Amino acid sequence: MEKATLLIIEPDSADLDALVEGLQVREDWILHCAPTRKEAMNILSSEVPDLILCAFRLRECTALDLLPILQERFPNLPFVITAREISVENAIQAIRAGAAEVLMKPLKMPVLRRQLADTLARQQLRRSNRSLREALARGDSPLVGNSPGFLKTIALAEQVAPSRSTVLITGESGTGKEIIANAIHSFSRRSEKPFVKINCGAIPENLMESELFGYQKGAFTGAHHSKKGRFEMAHEGTLFLDEIGDLPKAMQVKLLRALQSGEIERVGATETVKVDVRVIAATNQDLETMVSEGQFRDDLFYRLNVIAIHMPPLRERIEDIALLTQFFIERYNVLNDKLIEGISPRVLKAMQGFPWKGNIRELENMVERAVVLAQDPILEVSHFPALAANYLPDNAPISVVGLTMAEIEKLAIIQTLQHCHQDKHRAANMLQISLATLYRKIKEYQIPEKNPNPS
Ligand SMILES: Nc1ncnc2c1ncn2[C@@H]1O[C@H](COP(=O)(O)OP(=O)(O)OP(=O)(O)O)[C@@H](O)[C@H]1O
Ligand SMILES: [Mg+2]
Repeated sequence: MEKATLLIIEPDSADLDALVEGLQVREDWILHCAPTRKEAMNILSSEVPDLILCAFRLRECTALDLLPILQERFPNLPFVITAREISVENAIQAIRAGAAEVLMKPLKMPVLRRQLADTLARQQLRRSNRSLREALARGDSPLVGNSPGFLKTIALAEQVAPSRSTVLITGESGTGKEIIANAIHSFSRRSEKPFVKINCGAIPENLMESELFGYQKGAFTGAHHSKKGRFEMAHEGTLFLDEIGDLPKAMQVKLLRALQSGEIERVGATETVKVDVRVIAATNQDLETMVSEGQFRDDLFYRLNVIAIHMPPLRERIEDIALLTQFFIERYNVLNDKLIEGISPRVLKAMQGFPWKGNIRELENMVERAVVLAQDPILEVSHFPALAANYLPDNAPISVVGLTMAEIEKLAIIQTLQHCHQDKHRAANMLQISLATLYRKIKEYQIPEKNPNPS
């Protein structure tokens, strides 16, 4: 269990005792106490807490004087104010200055514990979002998934990365072919050298040769200077030939020659240039059929297909849907400053039966849209209109096949609470667990409280 540190600044000794008694129930919280601003600053010189709980009236000043100083020193540190009396103006000023909450005394301990736990959880989420934001800024894109099919693919990618062998990645659109090509490069000894991509389907046929191999000054009208092609740019690194099935036949033979000789010839040049390039190609077309129909050269196919990696479609790795969805929720939380927590079990169930013709890209787009539009912390089927047709009617039982034991338990709790109109005593009785266990599980599974009962 990860511990959280709380700094309590409270000049009233009776209030301080009550706070310590009420909060130390949480074994995962470490409490530091300071009756004065001076003592608080002393503690803060050696300890950075995860949350500050500060009385509005202090001996030397008010929390409003302390807040901006602490905000500057510890940006994003949640600052919760407690007050016996506070004017509306002061409360608004506190919130505007960045206080996480203003809570009125007398404080009910169970409520306070829950509020502080929520504030800490949101802070934790923001923190992990920050590291994700930094990763996104660096251009890192982690590979998410732990289904057997996906793990096999990753293991193969790792295994082939150190060699120079050509790799052919096949798979439907959106299955992650490019992300795997990137991973092979970054697992390899060439990772510090360039990873150069060319989309063979996007470049007009007459420009393809100069794009791949470059050209010499004066090679054609308008060639005012010499230019390197993608092969030379990728020297000592990796060249990723995307949509290789779209490569015109005339270029197929030139590519084959370059792969076999390790040399290229710029357009208009008389000499060849040696290049050290590892080639990875990808396609969503069936190259073998194209070969048998004479649309793709068989010698090039065999030259590319030294190591074949097939990306399984998402419908064959439904175990990864929950993980990928959570990953994309976090990504789009960060990009849109949202705090969506997850999806409901119904959404997951509907997703697991969805055909996913666009694979992971389709899932990513769907989650992005839901995160941007949703107002609630848990995404429901209504946030995924495309899933609706596949969605089970309200009263249909949800099959538990495909859910983990934890998900089944969460589902049982949500449905029992609904059945009992959120009466936790009745729900705990029906589930044959203690009320304390029910509360713990509601928290553990982050089940939203439909009808909060503040006591
Ligand atoms: N395992 C994964 N973990 C996280 N994100 C992934 C994963 N696989 C794919 N993605 C994301 O899904 C999207 C599609 O992946 P990618 O572009 O690699 O697919 P592709 O097979 O090249 O698709 P296409 O054939 O349409 O070009 C990208 O945004 C990528 O970041
Ligand atoms: Mg691609």
